[in-house]
Amino acid sequence: MKAVAPKAPGVVKLGPFGPYNNAVWLFHHGPEAAVVEMPPYKEGRDAKPWLKVKKFLKKHGMTLKYALLSHIHMDHCLTMGQFRLAFPETTFVGHRSHLNSPLTWRLSRSVGMRPDEMFDEVYDGDIKLLELSGEPLLLIHCPKHSQTDQFVIFRGTAMTGDWFLGDLKDCNALVSPAEKIRSVERVQSWLGRLNYGVSRAFSGHGDCLYYDVDFHRLMEKSKVDHDF
Ligand SMILES: [Fe+2]
Ligand SMILES: [Fe+2]
Repeated sequence: MKAVAPKAPGVVKLGPFGPYNNAVWLFHHGPEAAVVEMPPYKEGRDAKPWLKVKKFLKKHGMTLKYALLSHIHMDHCLTMGQFRLAFPETTFVGHRSHLNSPLTWRLSRSVGMRPDEMFDEVYDGDIKLLELSGEPLLLIHCPKHSQTDQFVIFRGTAMTGDWFLGDLKDCNALVSPAEKIRSVERVQSWLGRLNYGVSRAFSGHGDCLYYDVDFHRLMEKSKVDHDF
């Protein structure tokens, strides 16, 4: 495996994979890592994403502590079942909305599992605090692009899934404007309460990598429909 240059401290991007060019993100600290996104792949063209993750971990002497998703859309989670089988020791963590998604139910059946066997830990509130070798890893449930959106935040980098950043609009209208604004405010309020600084925002696909951002300002702009 070729050396992979980190995109930020403790943040590595593998891929892109599959027809929608999705990334697989690895967040790591010390010997512990978390994977974010389990996308589809093209047979014959891409390596299977879970095998690429295994290779990377082996090369760097890391273990996969957590498996996470930015949201439950097919292009981000289609191989969750294969990851589940490939990493039996890993803790799969999701929001309640992830477990309740009809797509999770379909994916679980495809690997002969029950939906509740797809996640080891399910959280119900706004936030879940995890850690990798003592370094905080934050999950914040924040529906904007979909009801299942969560930000995954690590070492000052926010993985923002398919959110359209800097405007209230997204590529769809699955979430009401009022709920979107509540989600933005929830993210701002938790970062404030935890006194946690975010300076990078990376999209789930890995096509938008914002460095040195004023994250609070970016969130403020994300509450406004600039076409009005
Ligand atoms: Fe999406
Ligand atoms: Fe997507």
